[in-house]
Amino acid sequence: MNATDAPLAEARGATAPRAVRLEREDDWEGWRDAARRLLAAEVPPEDIVWHAADSADDLFAAGQELPPPPQVELRVPRAFVDLAETAILHSDPERFALLYRLLWQVTHHPGLLSDHADPLVRRVELMAKAVRRDIHKMRAFLRFREIETEDGASRFVAWFEPEHHIVRANAGFFVRRFAQMRWSILTPELSVHWDGAALTESPGAERPQSPGDDAFEEAWKAYYAAIFNPARLKVGAMVKEMPRKYWKNLPEADLIAPLIASAQGREARMIEQSVPRAEERPVSLAALAEEARGCRRCPLWKGTSGCVFGEGPADARLMLVGEQPGDEEDRAGRPFVGPAGHVLDRALSEAGIGRGEVYVTNAVKHFKYVMRGKRRLHQKPDAAEIDQCRWWLDREIGLVRPRAVVMLGATALRGVTGKSGAIGKMRGRPVRLAEGTGLVSWHPSYVLRLPDAAAADRAYAELVEDLRLAAETARQV
Ligand code: URA
Repeated sequence: MNATDAPLAEARGATAPRAVRLEREDDWEGWRDAARRLLAAEVPPEDIVWHAADSADDLFAAGQELPPPPQVELRVPRAFVDLAETAILHSDPERFALLYRLLWQVTHHPGLLSDHADPLVRRVELMAKAVRRDIHKMRAFLRFREIETEDGASRFVAWFEPEHHIVRANAGFFVRRFAQMRWSILTPELSVHWDGAALTESPGAERPQSPGDDAFEEAWKAYYAAIFNPARLKVGAMVKEMPRKYWKNLPEADLIAPLIASAQGREARMIEQSVPRAEERPVSLAALAEEARGCRRCPLWKGTSGCVFGEGPADARLMLVGEQPGDEEDRAGRPFVGPAGHVLDRALSEAGIGRGEVYVTNAVKHFKYVMRGKRRLHQKPDAAEIDQCRWWLDREIGLVRPRAVVMLGATALRGVTGKSGAIGKMRGRPVRLAEGTGLVSWHPSYVLRLPDAAAADRAYAELVEDLRLAAETARQV
């Protein structure tokens, strides 16, 4: 990036402000480098005009150099960096200047960022919030459609209209999520393309370049209609979560009005159908596990080695339910064989329970993760994913018919009961289940993650105590 004297200021006869030109609308590195140099040279905010080279109002030619990089490292609070890195993606043309003004003030008043009533802090926080929301909306409402390319291969193409400059920053999410697919995301400002190995960019596109209907669209509509829960229908909340402006690019938007209209009748039918019919009940755990291997009820199966089903005696009196398989479980195809599994095995043995006596499973049957370099990092399943997977867990419980079910952590609690709750408050108290007695305890990974050794020892001892109580309950009932 370059700095040049602004011609407009010169024309006014005033001291020319320094014009700083960034390479792109989302040029965080460029802004940071310029800001460090300007701050070290004590150039006040009012003496700078900022703008991006690819913005619509690129009035400035390349010009004078920025001050040299500072000799000593400037210390900037981490909170500022986190906030600025997000807020810089906002579409407000003033954001570069506002961020520099905030940086200037923070270096002169280090406590400023905790003053959320300060108008500048507030404004930048709201900008970051709007950007985060836009990022979330893109992740939630972007829909790929399959097309056939000239070489006969298939490619997935999506059209999206973000409010802020988030496409480049958000591309990594789609690479991790859809690593095996070849896809393009077209937006008015910038398009990004993934060929399975590298991410490339091209200029913005116009809407007609993205394909309309296809078989995928039909499949998506069928999925949406299947997960639409009329009993939970709150039209106001739904419109707030899924603003109307996104509807035009969503295949399922066509279904919203008819689904709302038919919600009442469907709710009655759902209640009627909530008791599984005999023919819906698989006859054995092996048959159920086989069926679950082909599960496509949610997208979590993508990028995993497969479904990790429960294991243990089909008539176990005690069942343990965890959250979801981790990296090692996904590779091995078995639950609780990684670090959390080692903690669980130790706790079981201290509670006098043989692992071979219990049926061990998870609320969610596929590993949810994000790529960090070459590592797959665990991500918590969300409520919709847990609820989708209850289809399998309910049937597993129905077949094993355990006397006691230990729910290890909040995901297991939701998977088994459909409810949320604080584990610390619920543990130690039996919960009535349709099948047997439920007991809530800490998840072994929680014990592993506790940074304070004394707290970890306490949680581990409580886990052992809860397992002992569950074993007694299973023996008695
Ligand atoms: N954590 C779980 O909840 N389940 C596993 O199988 C492994 C780790």
